[in-house]
Order: sequence, then C-alpha cells, then structure tokens
Amino acid sequence: MDKIIVLDFGSQYSHLICRRIREFSVYAELVPYNISYDELQKHNPKGVIFSGGPSSVYSSDAPMPDDKIFEMNLPLLGICYGHQLIVNKYGGRVKRANKEYGSSLLTIDNDRDLLSEVGESVRAWMSHGDEAEEIPHEFQIIGHTESAKAAAIASEEKSIYGIQFHPEVVHTEQGAEILKNFVLKVCKAKQDWTMEGFIETAVEKISKIQGNVLCGVSGGIDSTVAALLIHKAIGDRLKCVFVNNGLLRLNEEREIEEMFKENFKVNFTPINAAEKFLGKLKKVKDPEQKRKIVGEEFIHVFTEFAEENGPFKWLAQGTLYPDVIESGVSKGPAAVIKSHHNVGGLPDWLNLQVLEPLRELYKDEVRKIAKLLNVPEKLFMRHPFPGPGLAVRIIGEVTQAKLEIAKVASKIVEDELLEANLYDKVWQAYAAVGDDKAVGVVGDERRYGNIVMIRVVDSIDAMTADWTRLPHELLEKISNRITNEIEDVTWVTYTISSKPPATIEPQ
Ligand code: XMP
Repeated sequence: MDKIIVLDFGSQYSHLICRRIREFSVYAELVPYNISYDELQKHNPKGVIFSGGPSSVYSSDAPMPDDKIFEMNLPLLGICYGHQLIVNKYGGRVKRANKEYGSSLLTIDNDRDLLSEVGESVRAWMSHGDEAEEIPHEFQIIGHTESAKAAAIASEEKSIYGIQFHPEVVHTEQGAEILKNFVLKVCKAKQDWTMEGFIETAVEKISKIQGNVLCGVSGGIDSTVAALLIHKAIGDRLKCVFVNNGLLRLNEEREIEEMFKENFKVNFTPINAAEKFLGKLKKVKDPEQKRKIVGEEFIHVFTEFAEENGPFKWLAQGTLYPDVIESGVSKGPAAVIKSHHNVGGLPDWLNLQVLEPLRELYKDEVRKIAKLLNVPEKLFMRHPFPGPGLAVRIIGEVTQAKLEIAKVASKIVEDELLEANLYDKVWQAYAAVGDDKAVGVVGDERRYGNIVMIRVVDSIDAMTADWTRLPHELLEKISNRITNEIEDVTWVTYTISSKPPATIEPQ
C-alpha cells in the first residue's frame, strides 16, 4: 500500500492532515517529528509532510527533524511551521511577523502541480506568528497573500513545497484539492486505501490468532465494530460482555441487547449490575471519586465474568488511531484533566494480551466500516457517550430522581435535534442535572423544582468545542417539553461555555 508520512510538530491540525489524505483513499500515517531517518525509511513513504506547530524555527528548543530526511529525495510538503523549517533549511530567512489568524486571500502565481486546478485565488486559513521573509534561491513563489509574499513556495526540481496556510482545515477553499495535488500528482501515490480492503486484511490477520477473545462492548461504535471484525474472523471464540451500570441513556440497555443478539448473532452476555454500581455511588458527591468508583466496579464485574467464562487469551479494545499516536511535542495538560475510564486496569493474573483491530483508524473510517458491516445507522450516528455515563452528567450524588430527569430530558433534547435535522450536525447534545432548585409556578402554586442544563456542542475531535448556536425556537420547544413532561423540573438553562475553559461534560 502506498503511504504518505506526516511528521507531527505539534499542530492541533496534524491528525486532520492524515484524515484529509485518507479521504481520497491514500494511506497516511502520523509520526512524531523526531522519527529517525532509518525508521522513516522503513515506512517506504511516497512522500513526506511536515505539519504545523506552535514553535518558532529560531527558538533554542525548536523541534527539528532528522537532517538526513532532507536528503531522501522524496517529495516534501511543509505546512506553516513545516514551511518555515524548509525555508530555514535551504538558506532562506524567517522573521517574526504580526500574528495572523484567520482567512486570507491567496493569489496563485504558478498553477502547476501543487496549486493546479484550484483557480486564480482562494481563501486560505492562516494561523502563524513567523513568516518567510526571504525564500531560498532554488525556490520560487507560487502563491502570495496581502501580508505574506511567500505564502506558497516550490522547488519543482526537488519536489519540495512549502505553504504558510493550512490546507487541511475546511476553511481553506480547495484545501483538499491542494493536498490531493501533492499526494497524487507530486508523490504519485496510488489510491489503494479502502475500508473494504481494510476489513479483508484485518479479518485475515485476526483469524490467525489462537485462543478465546473477551470484548467489553458498550454499544458505542468503536467497541461494536471491533467486536464485529473479530467475530467475522473467529466466530464464537469471541465472547462479548455488556455491563449495564445503571448510568446509561433511556432504553439503551434494551436497544444494545437487541442489536447484538438479533442483528449480529455474536456470543453476547448482558450483565445487569445497576444495583451494584448505584449502591457504591450512594452519598458520593466528588466527581473524581465517582469516576473512580465506576471504573473500579466495572473492573470487578468484568473480572468476575472473565474468571467464570474463561480462559481468555485476548482482551479486545476499540482503541482508535488518535489515542495511539503522540506527537513527541508536549500536548499540555488537556489529556490528563479527567481520568478517562476504559477497560484498562484488569488484573495481571488474567494474562490477557490486548487486541486492537481499529488502532490504525480514524472515527470516520470506523463509521464507514460500520456501514459495510450492516450496523444500523442509528448506532453509528449516535453521539459519543462517556464511560462513567450519567455519573458525570449528574452533579452531586447520583440519585434515582436525578437519573430519571437526566435520562428523560436528554431524550427530549436528542429527539428534538433529530426532528430538526440537527442531530448529525452537532458533536454532542444532552441534559445534565444537579441539586440546585429554582422556583416555578404551577397553577397558582409556587413550587421548587430542579434546574436542567442543556449542553449542545460543536467539535471536530473533542479537544476543543464550542456551544452550538441552536435556533431560539428550538430551545424554546425543548424547554417547554422538559418542564411540561418532567414534573420535577422548573427551569431549563442552556450552557454557553466553550472548551476551553469549560469541558464538554460537567464533571
Ligand atoms: P470533556 O468533558 O473532557 O470530554 O471535554 C471530551 C470527550 O470525552 C468524553 N468523555 C469520556 N469518554 N470516558 C470516556 O470514554 C470518560 O471518562 C469520559 N469523560 C468524558 C466526553 O463525552 C467528550 O466526548
């Protein structure tokens, strides 16, 4: 399979570069910027891309690639910081400029290869402090903006290109076309990365493993697709277990059970452990403590199942590519702000090896596979749901009354978004509830009821998020339905904090 390798210099968009390339069926992989020349060669890439990054090429701790990579005689594209690295390496000059953030008009000066068929000018997304002041003499300017005279440069002879803007973000018009030009016209990579091909290879690989596989399924798309791929390869040697922790969405347990038993025919055991979980959560108010309890209880239930139904040799997980690769450049504290809970931490004596059939894939690719494996659309379009479930959407102690409110109110939010054709357009949408009460008037009577918080956000990867500007009429309808249909609720609020500084979940 032909491959493009992207060196990650720490830009928030690095993964997007790979995703965009894979969208036109060429396999792209992200590697840390400091990969050695020898390691890079093992990938046998058709071309290399340097991502953007927050550094300045002149700072003492600027991340630098292995110098030998420049001698590989392979097509090379530098984006933003990567562009500046190329300018610097070949003898040009980079200077501190006024920070430019947002969209600029890029005028195309040379419409051969990289910028071919994109038109005379396009809006291009800029996000940089430094810029190229003087370009190396083997290079020519192929595009400029009003403030950056060397916004795109090329050495066609060397097949090296640098662009100051970000072609990978949707705000750059024809951005995908520019990446496509590099990958298909310059690198001449074959478009041989398809999900049909992936399924075939994955099934073939998995069918070679010995022993039984244990897979915890949550009803989410990742664990479902992982289970189905494995099932395709080894049939009933895969045993799936689904733990109902009492913190699920309305009717979720029944829907998941039906899907696995009736649609997929996999070996599936549902365990109703709601009482155990809710018992352990009694009187617990601290958010981290709640997460810890859910995580630990999950491991208890899971271990018990493994003991009674084993022996198992493998533990399957739906880990995706963005969870696997780290840039080598510090990503800051975001990743550890909350103790995310997955099926980690199982006891060593179970002796399980980890099987992660999706570890090369992005979410949209998993969705494509789900479609090919006949997973009902309802499931793979469903929003992400946190492992500790409603425990993180209920502020304070988890009580039956608050669970009921969160479940029914969230269902109303989801249904109304579906009805308005907005469900698929937002990242997540739910209702949270705490202990605060507000006064309402029912009939002639003043009554204190719960306050429900609606949270609807847009995001591309959950690292950052913005609140969705829902139409007021829709918010009004949601609010009316919640206060009419849930007796204990008097107020409905809409959460308008973005991430950062807020997070998507309230706890
Ligand atoms: P935050 O609240 O950190 O959430 O902005 C980012 C994304 O992660 C989900 N989330 C979790 N997912 N286990 C999970 O599997 C967890 O403990 C967890 N906490 C948050 C959240 O729903 C959002 O999509």
